[in-house]
Amino acid sequence: MNETSPSPDLIVVGSGLAGLATALAAGDAGARVRLLTAGDLLSGSSPWAQGGIAAALGADDHPSLHAADTLAVGGGLNDAAAVDVLVHSGRAAVLDLLESGVPFDSKSGRPELGLEAGHQRRRIVHAEGTATGHVITKALLARTVRHPRIHVSEHTPAQALLREGHRIVGVRSGSAIYQGNAVVLATGGYAALWGRTTNTPASRGAGLALAWGAGATLADLEFVQFHPTALALPGRPAFLLSEALRGEGALLLDADDRQIVDPLLPRDVVARAVARHWQERGPVYLSMRHLPASVRARFAPLAAQLLEWGLDLARDRVPVAPAAHYCMGGVRSDDAGRTDVAGLYVAGEVACTGVQGANRLASNSLLECLVFGQRAAAAALADSPDARAAWSTTALPAAPDIPEGKPEPDGSRPREADDPVLDRDLGTERSKRHLQALVRALPRPDDTEPCDPRLVPHLATRSALVRAESRGAHYRTDAPQALPEWQGHILWRRGMEPQFERIVT
Ligand code: SIN
Repeated sequence: MNETSPSPDLIVVGSGLAGLATALAAGDAGARVRLLTAGDLLSGSSPWAQGGIAAALGADDHPSLHAADTLAVGGGLNDAAAVDVLVHSGRAAVLDLLESGVPFDSKSGRPELGLEAGHQRRRIVHAEGTATGHVITKALLARTVRHPRIHVSEHTPAQALLREGHRIVGVRSGSAIYQGNAVVLATGGYAALWGRTTNTPASRGAGLALAWGAGATLADLEFVQFHPTALALPGRPAFLLSEALRGEGALLLDADDRQIVDPLLPRDVVARAVARHWQERGPVYLSMRHLPASVRARFAPLAAQLLEWGLDLARDRVPVAPAAHYCMGGVRSDDAGRTDVAGLYVAGEVACTGVQGANRLASNSLLECLVFGQRAAAAALADSPDARAAWSTTALPAAPDIPEGKPEPDGSRPREADDPVLDRDLGTERSKRHLQALVRALPRPDDTEPCDPRLVPHLATRSALVRAESRGAHYRTDAPQALPEWQGHILWRRGMEPQFERIVT
C-alpha cells in the first residue's frame, strides 16, 4: 500500500509486539492496515523485554496450571475468562512462533523452559537468553514490512482520535489525517513516568490520554508493577536484571552476603523487601557468583552489558533496586479489545482487559500482546459499526477512616510528573498522607486537551489514594490488608467522578 492507496480498513497505533500482532492478524485476514508509530520501528518497550513468554509446553504442565498461577498472583482482580483465553490461545501462539522459525533457545530440539517467580512449572521460553523481546519483535517486524496489505508510517505520533458521529474512524498526526473504519491503540503503558523505570522513555501513557480524550474509560491505574531487580549503579540506567536469573539460582544479598528475601516469591513481595532493605539497612545485591559458569553463560548479552559497566557476574555482586516496570491499568476493554467507544480498540499494555489482575505474573506480557493483538484485530474487522463494550458500575466503597498524619513538609512544592517523587510517593509502598500531598502537588490535567500528558500521573495518584486497602502491586502502609468490598476496578471517565466495577464471584 502506498500514500495514495484507498483508505485502510484498520489504523493501528504502535509498533511494539501488540501493534505488530494486530496488524499482521488484520493483514492476513485480508484487511488493509495502516500502522503508525511515534518513533522508529523497534523504538518501543517490547524489544527491551528480557524475560520470555510463558506457555504451558512442558510434559508436566497444562494451561489450567498456568491459569491458576496467573490468578494466584493477580490479587482477585483478574477477569477469569480473559485469563483462560490468555493461557490457551497463548500456548497456540507460542507454538506458531516456534513453527514459523523464531529461534527460541532450545536443547535437543525442544525449547528450553525456564522458571520465574509465581510459576509452579518451568514454562518460560527465551530467545538469545535475555533478548527475547528483541528477537520476537524483529521476527514479526520483518513479516510486517513485507506484508502487501500493511503500510507502516514511522515518526507519526497520534495526537488526536477522529470521530464520525459517535464512532472513532481515524487519527490525526500533525496536519496529516489517517482515516479507516476503526482504530486499535497499541501504544504501551506509562511506567516511564517514574524516574527509575525499565521502560523506554516513550511509555508515558499517551494512548491512555488519547482514549480518555475520546471518551473511553480508564481502569486500575493504581496498579503499577515494580520489578525488584533493576541495576542501581550511580550514573547508569535502571537496566533490568531479568527474573530468569533468579529462576536459575541468583540470590538477593545484603552487604554481608546474607540473603534478604526468598528470590522467587511474587514480584511485589520481593520488590517491597528490596526497597525496604535499602531504606532501613543499605544496599541489596544480586549475586550469581556461586553458580556454575554454564548457568551464567545462558545470559551472555546481559553479562556483556554489565561488563561494559565494570561488573563481572562471575566475580561481582550487582547492586539492584526496584524500578517501575509494567502497568496493569489502562483503557478498560473486554477480552477482544473493545472499549466503550465505538470504533476504538486497544491491545497490549495500554489495555486493561483484566487479564493481569492487580499484579501480573512474570512473562505474561509478551503473551498478552500476541493473543489480545490478534483478538482486537478480529473484533475490529468483524464488529458492527456501533459495537462497544459496557460496564456495570456502582459508587466507590466507603473508605475506612484512615488517620491523616502530618502534612508533608514539602507537599506544596510544584512537581512535574516524572519528578523522582513519583518513585517515592507512588512507589512500592504508598500512604494516604504522601498520596494526598502528591495529588495536591501534581499539575492538574486540562479536560479539554485531546491528549494531556498530565492526565495519567494525576489519575493514577488519585486511584491509589481512593483505594484504601492493599491488593496486588498496590500496597498501602496505612491499610495493609485486602478488603472484600474493594474487589473490583476503579474506573475513570472524562467529566465524571470515579466509579467502581465490582467483581461478582
Ligand atoms: C524479566 O525478565 O524479569 C521481566 C519479565 C516480565 O516482566 O515478565
